[in-house]
Amino acid sequence: MKAVIANDHGGVELAASLIKHLEEKRIEVTYLGTDSTESVDYPDYAEKAVNEYRKGCYDFGILVCGTGIGISVSANKMKGIRCALPQNSYAAAMAKQHNNANFIAFGGRIEYTEPVTDILDAYIDSEFEGGRHQRRIDKMMELEGK
Ligand code: RB5
Repeated sequence: MKAVIANDHGGVELAASLIKHLEEKRIEVTYLGTDSTESVDYPDYAEKAVNEYRKGCYDFGILVCGTGIGISVSANKMKGIRCALPQNSYAAAMAKQHNNANFIAFGGRIEYTEPVTDILDAYIDSEFEGGRHQRRIDKMMELEGK
């Protein structure tokens, strides 16, 4: 498996812990920064990650900002991207099973009720169910041009 990950200054620490976790799981990671707490703009990092993901060799992408909101909304503005911002493991599993999310976002300043690594694993370990969910995804993606 291969993942691309990027974050703004609000996500430096969390991104580092997720990269460590992915590497322990033998998932190859391309890290695009920022590795500094100096203020940057999250849309720039969403764009970098999506452009890298579009090279085609990645299974999924991870984005982190302070809340996860700005960077996920930014990624979702780009064609073909379904970036989930799960509250917990259940939502993360559903993001793959029902929404076939190709990106997952987290907030470095958010207090989650479970370890973020568990939430990430729930996403990674789930499979897209297809069927009626594919029909809904097709409709969702048609909204892109509107
Ligand atoms: C940066 O201060 C902060 O606004 C950003 O990390 C994120 O939370 C935006 O949604």
